[in-house]
Amino acid sequence: MSSVRKVRKAVFPVAGLGTRFLPATKAVPKEMLTVVDKPVIQYVVDEALDAGIEHLIFVTGRSKAVIEDYFDIQVELEQTLRQRNKTAELSLLESILPVAGSTSFTRQQEPLGLGHAVWCARELVGDEPFALLLPDMIMKSDKGCMKGMVELHSESGANIIAVEECAPDQAHKYGIVGVGEAIGEGFRITRMVEKPAPGTAPSNFFINGRYILQPEIFPILATQERGAGNEIQLTDAMVKLSGTQPFAAYHFRGETYDCGAKDGFILANVAFALERADIRPVVEEPLRKIVSRFK
Ligand code: G1P
Repeated sequence: MSSVRKVRKAVFPVAGLGTRFLPATKAVPKEMLTVVDKPVIQYVVDEALDAGIEHLIFVTGRSKAVIEDYFDIQVELEQTLRQRNKTAELSLLESILPVAGSTSFTRQQEPLGLGHAVWCARELVGDEPFALLLPDMIMKSDKGCMKGMVELHSESGANIIAVEECAPDQAHKYGIVGVGEAIGEGFRITRMVEKPAPGTAPSNFFINGRYILQPEIFPILATQERGAGNEIQLTDAMVKLSGTQPFAAYHFRGETYDCGAKDGFILANVAFALERADIRPVVEEPLRKIVSRFK
């Protein structure tokens, strides 16, 4: 039997202000914007649950209380649905309700960066490996990204970072990893650098927002100084942890949509809508017509 500890908990840093998506995000958290008919955060939570995650930890901020409400029972709404015999809607709500006691919420009091947001979850995670899912990114693939990562983690026991390839001129926007020997559906990571200056990236494999980390990251984050963008960067802390623990990349081969940006959000809506048997027949032709007007 493997001695690798199971990944039971997932952290979702949802404190971000969503400035790339104003004015929509002035009063609605970016994680609650809808792709087809579900909020973005639901896609990310579903990916975690599909990977066997049992406990959901949200690092929120002021003005994000609606996320906590979303993952709770809405008594009045459910009573009304029951009175009106809306059984399909009721069972839909039941199907997305997390098991009682399986969610936790804590606040990142100041926007000091991703590394700081993850550090805010330290007491809730405790001394065990955990998944980290950045909620802007939603993914489409046969096998969920986090599910593949959990498999690679149980095979290797390493810290796991999901990566994808980007155009070389886009590398400065992301965390970038250096490529070592092949392992499972990925490779050993030789280097990590956050937002490399143009022309200096060690590869075009970028960190796509999914991680499995060992709890030893927390004491490093506690003293991590500000890095790129004057923020406490998770990547800088991972570089330090890689001095004592192995890191492997999971090469994700599906589609990723950055729903924190307008283009990614619009494309996600189109892609997920076209996959739905109830929606595709009514939107496909009109969409083609709209696109043809711009040719
Ligand atoms: C963060 C990470 C970066 C990663 C990116 C993915 O950056 O620091 O390594 O590539 O998410 O979206 P941010 O988007 O917060 O600037």
